[in-house]
Amino acid sequence: MTPGKFITLEGVDGAGKSTHLGFVADWLRGQGREVIVTREPGGTPLGETLRELLLHRDMDADTELLLMFAARQQHLAELIRPALARGAWVVSDRFTDASYAYQCGGRGIATERIAVLEAWVQRGFAPDLTLLFDVPPEVAEARRSAARTADRFEREADSFFSRVRNAYLDRARAEPGRIRVLDARRSIDALQDDIAQLLEELA
Ligand code: TYD
Repeated sequence: MTPGKFITLEGVDGAGKSTHLGFVADWLRGQGREVIVTREPGGTPLGETLRELLLHRDMDADTELLLMFAARQQHLAELIRPALARGAWVVSDRFTDASYAYQCGGRGIATERIAVLEAWVQRGFAPDLTLLFDVPPEVAEARRSAARTADRFEREADSFFSRVRNAYLDRARAEPGRIRVLDARRSIDALQDDIAQLLEELA
């Protein structure tokens, strides 16, 4: 059995990535693939409980990082690795790039700490393709304020999201083959043409 592939969607809150999650899944299903759609933090019953805490309870920045990786370990063990092993493709709304962007870029935790947790939990595992939805901070802010009630992350200052965005772009520069940057100011149709192209290259 050929293992499935792992695709992640990333971007600052308000970049619009969630809009494209269903498109990615439908496109892959159209190719006859079994597709699992999931998200982080979350994706398992325990992970969803941790998500509630992460999004709504105040906590120390390192606690936040450790809980993100606790949820990720469970996600990998219970859902992601078994699904890929049986040949399903997995599409996740966020993964470890978000920890580098938010906990390292946003909160200022040292990259080395995140790298230790990544090595521990992932043991070399990484997404096959990451779509990074990039928008300037003011566009993301306008989209966030038009959306529903803000969670703990969405209440952060604009400067926080600028750091998150820059950390994402730094990662994309370091891994241009895996992380594909999409200008998310463009129309949904234009973006989806590009996404289909990238999926075609992977399939
Ligand atoms: P998301 O699902 O994008 O939020 P929403 O449901 O509002 O669209 O992500 C939840 C939040 O979690 C988001 O603000 C980013 C944050 N996050 C981190 O800080 N680190 C991480 O490792 C992950 C996976 C998410």
